[in-house]
Amino acid sequence: MEIKYSEITKKYGDKKAVDGVNLTLNNGVCALLGANGSGKTTLMRITAGILDATEGSVSLDGRNIKALDSSYRNILGYLPQNFGCYKDFKAKDFLMYMCALKGIDGDFAKKRCKEMLEEVGLTEVQNKKIGSFSGGMKQRLGIAQSLLNEPSVLILDEPTAGLDPKERIRFRNMLCALSKERIIIYATHIVSDITFLADRVLIMKDGKIVADGSPEELIEIAVGKVWSVNVERSELSRIQARYSVGTIKDGDNGFVNVRIVSEGKPFEEAVNVKPELDDVYLYFFGEVSEDAEAD
Ligand SMILES: Nc1ncnc2c1ncn2[C@@H]1O[C@H](COP(=O)(O)OP(=O)(O)OP(=O)(O)O)[C@@H](O)[C@H]1O
Ligand SMILES: [Mg+2]
Repeated sequence: MEIKYSEITKKYGDKKAVDGVNLTLNNGVCALLGANGSGKTTLMRITAGILDATEGSVSLDGRNIKALDSSYRNILGYLPQNFGCYKDFKAKDFLMYMCALKGIDGDFAKKRCKEMLEEVGLTEVQNKKIGSFSGGMKQRLGIAQSLLNEPSVLILDEPTAGLDPKERIRFRNMLCALSKERIIIYATHIVSDITFLADRVLIMKDGKIVADGSPEELIEIAVGKVWSVNVERSELSRIQARYSVGTIKDGDNGFVNVRIVSEGKPFEEAVNVKPELDDVYLYFFGEVSEDAEAD
């Protein structure tokens, strides 16, 4: 299966939330990584067919998703960002209701609800009202509803928001098992969530895809640009204003070890270190003021 974006642009007034995206997605997990406001949710909503692009089209196996209409929705699973659900519903009833909306009925609906509640660890609270759930529990219910119809296209917008570390791991393992014969699009700004999961990583910045490749290929971008250096603690704020700073580790005698992402060698004593995906994110999104860079 293949999803193809052709010249997708979404404007809000003069602002381009998505700016001329051309992209082809195949089976596997594709992570869409980007800072707040970079256009991830806008692109996900267009992919889910609930938001119209200003220009361009999205097609599934060569057919426009708009023309496919319900036959596209039937194979789609979507977890929106800030997933909201009816607080007076009991968890199980909510899933049955979602089944009805998705055209799943009878014994199969019951079976899928039971399986999904199990999968996200909500079986014991299935008869509790959603209003009494914690943020993480609601998010897990959102994940469950996105999977009810065994979707071949699964769109997840910040799926691990609010999940505790144990649930994050459970979710990651679940996706890993699911990812083989479907297209999964996973929007996030949490690099560690997708490091070992994504087959492909797209970095989105100001509405554009600025990098595209396997995690290994993206890491190549940062080779020779990640530095480690020991500096006096009192120097830190000056360095942070001037460079993209990653991990800072405490050292002895008022010194700290700083990880810096920079095109050129930031200090005489700095040494190159092996990049990770986090460094690539910093390379694109590290906040360095223009003035600081110039001097
Ligand atoms: N309905 C809207 N009306 C006006 N502007 C919007 C609307 N939705 C999004 N935007 C703008 O479009 C840009 C992209 O927003 P979007 O929500 O797609 O980003 P995002 O990458 O999902 O961010 P986040 O990480 O915070 O979820 C932002 O500048 C946002 O303010
Ligand atoms: Mg978003």
